[in-house]
Amino acid sequence: MEELANRVKVVFMKVAVSGKGGVGKTFVAGGLAVALAKRGFKTIAIDADPSPNLALTLGLLPDEASRIVPISENKQLIEAKTSTGYAGVYRLTFTVDDIVRDYAVATPLGVNLIVMGTVRAVGAGCTCPANAVVRSLLRHLVVERGEAVVLDMEAGVEHMGRGTAQHVNVMLVVADANMKALETAKRIHELGVKAGMKQIFVVGNKIVNDLQKTVIERFASENGLAVLDYLPFDYKVVEAEMRGETPLKYEDSAAVKAVERLCDKLLQATP
Ligand SMILES: Nc1ncnc2c1ncn2[C@@H]1O[C@H](COP(=O)(O)OP(=O)(O)OP(=O)(O)O)[C@@H](O)[C@H]1O
Ligand SMILES: [Mg+2]
Repeated sequence: MEELANRVKVVFMKVAVSGKGGVGKTFVAGGLAVALAKRGFKTIAIDADPSPNLALTLGLLPDEASRIVPISENKQLIEAKTSTGYAGVYRLTFTVDDIVRDYAVATPLGVNLIVMGTVRAVGAGCTCPANAVVRSLLRHLVVERGEAVVLDMEAGVEHMGRGTAQHVNVMLVVADANMKALETAKRIHELGVKAGMKQIFVVGNKIVNDLQKTVIERFASENGLAVLDYLPFDYKVVEAEMRGETPLKYEDSAAVKAVERLCDKLLQATP
């Protein structure tokens, strides 16, 4: 495994994870980030969901997680980066590598976490300073930085400019065997293609039987989507969440093992 990591080290995997609410985006994004870190990659996980909870999945305690101030809500930082001293006039170019250094939070499972906070859609006419900072930071992390990056996103790709989206190696759209989740996956796929993402795959999650796989497979082939993998429904994940723990620390969980295999598949698939 170490050997594989070395072989692709120059590539720096950049993965975005999207999907309908509750399908398992955070579980998959967190699981992939931890698997990449275990395989020797320096890994940054980005929580780009407006109601962030990736921190808990990466093993932080609730009070540690609640102390994290999302980048877009860090008024002092936004001001320091964008202020020109003139009211209503913002600076739009500034350095952001120091933000990674100063605001990435180390988590128990070996991944560094950055919580972005709410970002408004491209084209919504918003040029507010917080958006400028988050966008530049996303671009820096995805395009310029020599680290593996996993993004936990809401159901869409709105936060990303085209220049950033094009540099994402792969977007995984998580869906369970539910028509609403699959219709959402289809819509996200379309948005991803429009944004310039090169590789987009569906990951079927919470699978309990072959019929569910068939339903996802059929929907995918009828709608021009490709399924990369299936992850089983695992009661160990549910139990861990009930106790307020991260399921990712249970390496014997079938779902956690499946995410590890997904990580290896991605590493092999990356040119
Ligand atoms: N393979 C699985 N087996 C069992 N439970 C799972 C599995 N994947 C995810 N879950 C559980 O389903 C719930 C939703 O998962 P998660 O929070 O990852 O979804 P999400 O898509 O990020 O949701 P949101 O849209 O609220 O951010 C969680 O309690 C999670 O532990
Ligand atoms: Mg989530």
